[in-house]
Amino acid sequence: MDMKRFRKQLNPSKPTDPEDEAVSRVAERKSGLNTMRLMGILAACLTILTVLVTISVIYRPPPTDRFPGFPEARVFEVKAEKEDDSTQFLDVPKDKLLGGLLAAGFDEGSCLSRYQSSLYRKAPPHKPSSYLLSRLRKYEALHKRCGPYTEAYNKTLEQLNSGRNNRPTECNYVIWISFSGLGNRILTLASAFLYALLTNRVLLVDRGADMTDLFCEPFPEKSWLLPLDFPLNYQFNSFDQKSPQCYGNMLKNNITNNSTGSLLPYLYLHLVHDYGDHDKLFFCDQDQTLFQTVPWLIMKTDNYFVPSLFLIPSFEQELSNLFPDKQTVFHHLGRYLFHPSNPVWGMITRYYQAYLAKADERVGIQIRVFDTGTGPFQHVFDQVLACAVKEKLLPEVNAQEPIVSPSRNQGSKAILMTSLSSGYFEKLRNMYWEHPTLTGEVIGVFQPSHEEHQQTEKQMHNRKAWAEMYLLSLTDALITSSWSTFGYVAQGLGGLKPWILDKPENRTAPDPPCRRAMSMEPCFHAPPFYDCKAKIGIDTGALVPHVRHCEDMSWGLKLVDHEEM
Ligand SMILES: *[C@@H]1O[C@H](CO)[C@@H](O)[C@H](O)[C@H]1NC(C)=O
Ligand SMILES: *[C@@H]1O[C@H](CO)[C@@H](O)[C@H](O)[C@H]1NC(C)=O
Ligand SMILES: *[C@@H]1O[C@H](CO)[C@@H](O)[C@H](O)[C@H]1NC(C)=O
Ligand SMILES: *[C@@H]1O[C@H](CO)[C@@H](O)[C@H](O)[C@H]1NC(C)=O
Ligand SMILES: *[C@@H]1O[C@H](CO)[C@@H](O)[C@H](O)[C@H]1NC(C)=O
Repeated sequence: MDMKRFRKQLNPSKPTDPEDEAVSRVAERKSGLNTMRLMGILAACLTILTVLVTISVIYRPPPTDRFPGFPEARVFEVKAEKEDDSTQFLDVPKDKLLGGLLAAGFDEGSCLSRYQSSLYRKAPPHKPSSYLLSRLRKYEALHKRCGPYTEAYNKTLEQLNSGRNNRPTECNYVIWISFSGLGNRILTLASAFLYALLTNRVLLVDRGADMTDLFCEPFPEKSWLLPLDFPLNYQFNSFDQKSPQCYGNMLKNNITNNSTGSLLPYLYLHLVHDYGDHDKLFFCDQDQTLFQTVPWLIMKTDNYFVPSLFLIPSFEQELSNLFPDKQTVFHHLGRYLFHPSNPVWGMITRYYQAYLAKADERVGIQIRVFDTGTGPFQHVFDQVLACAVKEKLLPEVNAQEPIVSPSRNQGSKAILMTSLSSGYFEKLRNMYWEHPTLTGEVIGVFQPSHEEHQQTEKQMHNRKAWAEMYLLSLTDALITSSWSTFGYVAQGLGGLKPWILDKPENRTAPDPPCRRAMSMEPCFHAPPFYDCKAKIGIDTGALVPHVRHCEDMSWGLKLVDHEEM
C-alpha cells in the first residue's frame, strides 16, 4: 500500500452522513453481544514457535451499545488510481460478501463478523480470481456431500474401522490436528485447507481446546468440525514422528514403499518444525501420488507450508489459476476461513469503536521479543521508534516547545500496540503526552492487553489474542517483529505489507531498524531443501521467482509477486 496515497485518502474529506448505516449496524450487533459469556476453556499447548499472547488490563466494554459519531471512514473507495489532487471518493454500498469470496445463505446472527467485517476494512485492492471463487463454491458442494455424518462420510468411516482400504471411496479427507499456539494454528489451518482444495479432499478440524470458541463455521450447511466420536480422536495427541502410522516413519523403517502404502486406510503426516527427511517427502510428487488412494490423511503441523506446495509440479498449474496474484494466498483464504466468533467479534468491535475508529489513521505496532525475559528493553523501544519515524508512520516530538500553534496539521493517529509487556506502550504514550509532535498531529497510543494476568484469566487468553491479531489487521500501516506468526496473521488478513523489525543483535538496535516486507504472505519457517527428482539437497528459495527466502528468516520461504522484485 502506498502510504502517501492512503493518507490523502483518509484526510481530505469526510462522509456527509455516515451515521444512518452505522446505527442500523449497531442494532444488528447487539444480539451478538448478548451472547457473550465466559466459557471454561483450556489454552492449547504452546511450543517453541508459539505466539505467547497477552491479557488485558486496559480493555473495558463501553457502557452502552451506542456509539455516537462512529465514523464510517471505511465506506469509501478511491476512484482515481492516479496519485494527484483530483483523488475522488466514492460512496459504495458495503460489499458484504467480500467480492464473492464468502458464500451467501448463512444465518447472520450466528456469526456477525462474517457480514460485518467489511464495515471495518477499506475495500481491499486485491480481488480474488474468479477461478478461486468457483473452486470455493465447488469445495462447499463437496463439503456438503461429504461432511460429518453424511452417507459418504459414514461409508469412508467404515473403511477406517475395518482397517482395510480395498475400494476407492467417494470422499477423501484431510484432518487437521489442533496443535501449537493460535497464530500458528491459523496459518496451518489455511495451509491444510489449500491442500484439501488441491487434492479434492474434505477438510475436517480437530476442535482442540478452543477452536469452537474462537471461530465461526466457514462452510455452509455442514460443519467443518471433526465429530467427537471419530475413532482416532484420542490418539491425536500421541501422534508424532515415531508413531507407527507416521508416513515418514514408515518409509524410514521400510514398512511401506510407494506401492504398499496405498493399501492403508489412513496415514499420519508429521509436518511439525522438528520433522525429518522422510517426513519432508510429503512435498514430493511421487509421494503425493501415493496419498491419492488413502482416504484419511491426518496432519499435524505448526508451519505455514503453502510456499512449498508451489514447488510441487503437479500442483503448479492449479495454484497459478487459483492465485494469479501469488502474494494473496493467505489474504484470501484467511478472510474466507477465519471469522471471529460472536464473543470475539464483540471484543474486536468494542475496542475498535472505543479507541481506533475516530482517528484519521491507524498504525499497528506488534512487538515480540525472542530473547530472555519479556522486557521492556530500551534497544527494542529505540528500534521501534526509529523505524516508525524513518518510515514516516509516526511524527517526531518537539522537545523544545511545550505547545504547538493550533494552525498546523490537526490530524490524528491511533497507535495500536501489542506486546507481552506494557513497557513499550507506556513509553510511547508518555512521549506523546509529554511533548507535542513536530507536525501538530495528535497521537493516541493504545494496547489492549499484556501478559501480567495470564494465569488468572486463562480462558480469555486466546480470545484476546485473536481479537488483537484481528485489530492489528484493521490498521492502515503495520510494523511487525521478525519471526512472529501473530504479525503474519495480521498482515495477511489486512492485506498489508508490513515494515519488519530486524532481530536485534547484541542488544543494540540494527541499522536500518526495519525494512518493508516483499509481500503480505507469511513465512514458512521450516521448509524442505530437497530436489525430489534428483534426490539431492537444493536451495528451494532459488528455484522459481515467486518463492523466495523470507526477510525475517534467511532459511524460510515465502511467496512474492515477482513483478515487484
Ligand atoms: C451416519 O451415521 C450416524 C451415526 O453413526 C447416523 O446418525 C447417521 O444417520 C448416518 N448418516 C446417514 C446419512 O445414514
Ligand atoms: C530400508 O531399506 C534400505 C534400502 O533397501 C536400507 O538401506 C535400509 O537400511 C533399510 N532400513 C531399515 C530400517 O531397515
Ligand atoms: C514394496 O514393499 C513390498 C512389501 O514390503 C515389497 O514386496 C515390494 O517389493 C516393494 N516394492 C518396491 C518397489 O520396493
Ligand atoms: C515407486 O518407486 C520406484 C523406485 O523408486 C519408481 O520407479 C516408481 O516410479 C515409483 N512409483 C510411483 C507410483 O511413484
Ligand atoms: C557482540 O558483543 C560482543 C562483546 O561486546 C562482541 O565480542 C561480539 O563481536 C558482538 N557481536 C556482534 C555480532 O556484533
